[in-house]
Amino acid sequence: MNARLQLVGLASAIVAAAVLVAPAQALTLKKDSITLPESTRVFPGDSAGAKAANTYCLMCHSVGMVMNQPDLGKAAWTVEVSKMKNVFKAPIPEDQVAVIADYLDSIKGKK
Ligand code: HEC
Repeated sequence: MNARLQLVGLASAIVAAAVLVAPAQALTLKKDSITLPESTRVFPGDSAGAKAANTYCLMCHSVGMVMNQPDLGKAAWTVEVSKMKNVFKAPIPEDQVAVIADYLDSIKGKK
């Protein structure tokens, strides 16, 4: 090992020792709290699709998460709803996937 490497090793050991003997209050955590914004917005309309979207999409995130996406076609909405169900484990009954995809296509479909 050359002298330069030994010096680097020594410097690392000194830094490590300094961290270990640092005063305890440097690591003291303090309690804090935040208030998350609450969304009262719901999917528009009272069709079966709107009801299903309001029932199965808002338990994890807001309407905005959906409405701020680009306008997608029915196929892409089907993939999206299936992803929520299969990947993120949203408890969406199988027969509601197409109902919700149709609804999202009607309000956020490709023009
Ligand atoms: C079990 C929780 C859960 C439910 C219920 C849920 N989602 Fe999601 N959704 C997620 C998660 C997690 C993400 C990813 C968030 C991130 O990446 O920040 C997401 C993201 C999205 C996105 C953003 C694009 C993307 O693919 O990441 C859209 C659009 C979306 N969800 C639509 C829906 C729709 C429509 C429904 C109802 C059919 C729904 N979600 C229900 C968990 C859920």
